[in-house]
Amino acid sequence: MLRKEQNDLLTQTGPQTPMGRFFRSYWMPALLAEELPENDCPPVRVKLLSEPMVAFRDSEGRLGLIEEFCAHRRASLWFGRNEESGLRCPYHGWKYDVTGQCVDVRNAIGCRRWKAASTRAMCRSCIAAI
Ligand code: FES
Repeated sequence: MLRKEQNDLLTQTGPQTPMGRFFRSYWMPALLAEELPENDCPPVRVKLLSEPMVAFRDSEGRLGLIEEFCAHRRASLWFGRNEESGLRCPYHGWKYDVTGQCVDVRNAIGCRRWKAASTRAMCRSCIAAI
């Protein structure tokens, strides 16, 4: 019989746990391709290794698996709109591509730093101010 510490070591798979780090170094099946049947179809909730995520197929057919909750105010992206090569948050409209990169911040349009960002990376000043 396992002691509690041994059982925890083997069964807890969060990002900061030993078993979580181990599993994250390997490929694992998440869902069937037919669950995302066409471009811009509704996103699907996926829970992998204790992490809530959403999967979606963008306008070019690329598959994305990103954290479920928006970086802005933590709204669920599962309710988001899958459109024009990204998943748009239903609350304030931030948009994420298939890599999880935020590519559009509608409520920070006037921000000079956001306009100047050549990588379209998230503007930390905007996040702090919003
Ligand atoms: S909560 Fe997603 S854009 Fe504000």
